Amino acid sequence: MDASGPEPTVVTTPNHAESSAAVAVADKPLIRDRWQELRQLGQGGMSTVFAVHDLQTNEDLALKLIRPELVCDVRSAIRLRAEERALRELQSAPHMLQIHPSQPYADGALILTELIDGEDALKTLKKGMDLPLALRIAEDAAACLVFAHEHRFVHRDIKPANILIAPDGAKVIDWGVALSLDDGDLFPDAVVGTPSYMPPEQAMGEAEPMSDVYSLGCSLYEMLTGEDSAPPEARQSTFTMLTWRDKHDGPNPCTICPRIPKGLGALVEKTMRRGLNERVQSAAELLHGLEYYDVAPMQATRRTVVDLTPLQYTDVVSRN
Ligand SMILES: Nc1ncnc2c1ncn2[C@@H]1O[C@H](COP(=O)(O)OP(=O)(O)OP(=O)(O)O)[C@@H](O)[C@H]1O
Ligand SMILES: [Mg+2]
Repeated sequence: MDASGPEPTVVTTPNHAESSAAVAVADKPLIRDRWQELRQLGQGGMSTVFAVHDLQTNEDLALKLIRPELVCDVRSAIRLRAEERALRELQSAPHMLQIHPSQPYADGALILTELIDGEDALKTLKKGMDLPLALRIAEDAAACLVFAHEHRFVHRDIKPANILIAPDGAKVIDWGVALSLDDGDLFPDAVVGTPSYMPPEQAMGEAEPMSDVYSLGCSLYEMLTGEDSAPPEARQSTFTMLTWRDKHDGPNPCTICPRIPKGLGALVEKTMRRGLNERVQSAAELLHGLEYYDVAPMQATRRTVVDLTPLQYTDVVSRN
């Protein structure tokens, strides 16, 4: 493989090891001569996330690497650079993914963070999630958003796949399309986010802090019920989903899962109102409301018997 040129270099290490265990490690692909790939954690439209062993720090870390075919794509580099910046500015938020101190200057090519020993909330909810866990995840994410909003960032892509369940609580990840309210939109010509979780104002290019509240409400609905907050007919395409969300408020999870406390069901429903004036007004208000149910000693989820396959949406949808 070519070790020069602009592409991220992925080469296989020469095998100098003598013991078979060492051979196994040495045979793992080496990324940019520094990170030994342990496994792939996820792949999005723009980047791939790996669990790696960092030969410089001797730690296992997570490496988000721009996809080789996009290494010369300016928008992707801008997005990864923006993600790094949002992470840096929001490092002291509760439940925030921690950027690693040895992150090199990479100009939008990669981000090095702590490796979370746990899976994302989407994977967990597909296996079934009880009410206390769903509440805890939503509370942690809401606490992170309170801080982010106070610091004038809107995440714009809150969804279960972007919340990791760490041993010490949930962490909000994937800040690549975060909007800095001070700097303005880096992608003014695109609708940014994931349609299944996107409020109407965000689909119109006018995301604001309450848009994250809506998306977290959709996520909580899904974690509590195991089902998408939009009906099957809305899930045909990006267009049908955005149209449905523009014409309907989100449902009350008690309708399909009566064991959810009524007040909690009403709170979740109120996060998914189309009208900003009718919606839960802030992440702080949502957090406060959720804390009331924190001690509920019940296991309320109803596992769905219908298809739980996530919708295949692109997460950045061009407006044109
Ligand atoms: N630090 C981490 N520790 C453990 N797992 C991680 C970590 N970061 C990401 N993951 C896993 O990788 C998946 C993808 O990560 P992330 O959401 O950051 O990028 P993406 O959505 O694939 O990329 P893109 O920004 O291109 O859309 C996550 O859903 C999660 O399962
Ligand atoms: Mg993601």
